[in-house]
Amino acid sequence: MIVSRFKKLETPRLLLRRFRRTDLEALMTYRNDPEVARYQTWESFSREEAETFIARQSRARPGIPGRWFQFAVELKDSGILAGDCALLLVKWARRTGEIGYTFSRAYQGHGLATEAARAVIDYGFDSLGLLRIIATTDCRNLRSLAVMKRLGMREEGHFIQNLWFKGAWCDEYHYAILRSEWSSARASARP
Ligand SMILES: CC(C)(COP(=O)(O)OP(=O)(O)OC[C@H]1O[C@@H](n2cnc3c(N)ncnc32)[C@H](O)[C@@H]1OP(=O)(O)O)[C@@H](O)C(=O)NCCC(=O)NCCS
Repeated sequence: MIVSRFKKLETPRLLLRRFRRTDLEALMTYRNDPEVARYQTWESFSREEAETFIARQSRARPGIPGRWFQFAVELKDSGILAGDCALLLVKWARRTGEIGYTFSRAYQGHGLATEAARAVIDYGFDSLGLLRIIATTDCRNLRSLAVMKRLGMREEGHFIQNLWFKGAWCDEYHYAILRSEWSSARASARP
């Protein structure tokens, strides 16, 4: 098990930190937005669910197989909670992680989800020692698909009607990136 003590991650515009009680209202607001929830597992996010989520995540540790760790994503210049990014160490494969992301509609369209996901991928490869990171999305979720592509992930699967989701069968993309691919992309991005 690769359990890590997590403090914070920083990017030019973002602070990725643990969730805390003061995030409750912002978390409930964006997670209850039907547009944000559309391709997510939840339909709505009650106060009780949000309180449980924050209580669990405030003491969670990344790198425990089968348990999602949620990074609260805060805007550095205002301290506002813009969304969350998640990382799971998958149980069914060695040194493989999965990422996810959810942003308030108010903070979409600024490159913030990609910026946060990059920091989480760096963390997964550098601090958790992962070799492979995957992401999945409903094929209709074009914004999520675009993030995967911006991150440099490759399509590894296009599954047709493999998921019963909110009352209908849906298609899913599976994307992935290897540590070696991520390192090469980082090296070539350096000035
Ligand atoms: C998926 C999701 C996180 C994507 O968020 P996003 O803001 O579109 O993604 P990015 O951070 O990559 O932002 C990219 C956009 O910012 C724009 N942008 C503006 N300023 C930018 C900057 N400084 N740097 C980079 N991009 C910038 C890009 O041009 C792009 O715009 P476009 O969408 O018009 O092409 C968001 O739609 C979401 O939270 N959806 C609901 C939850 C969900 O479905 N999650 C995924 C489940 S699989």
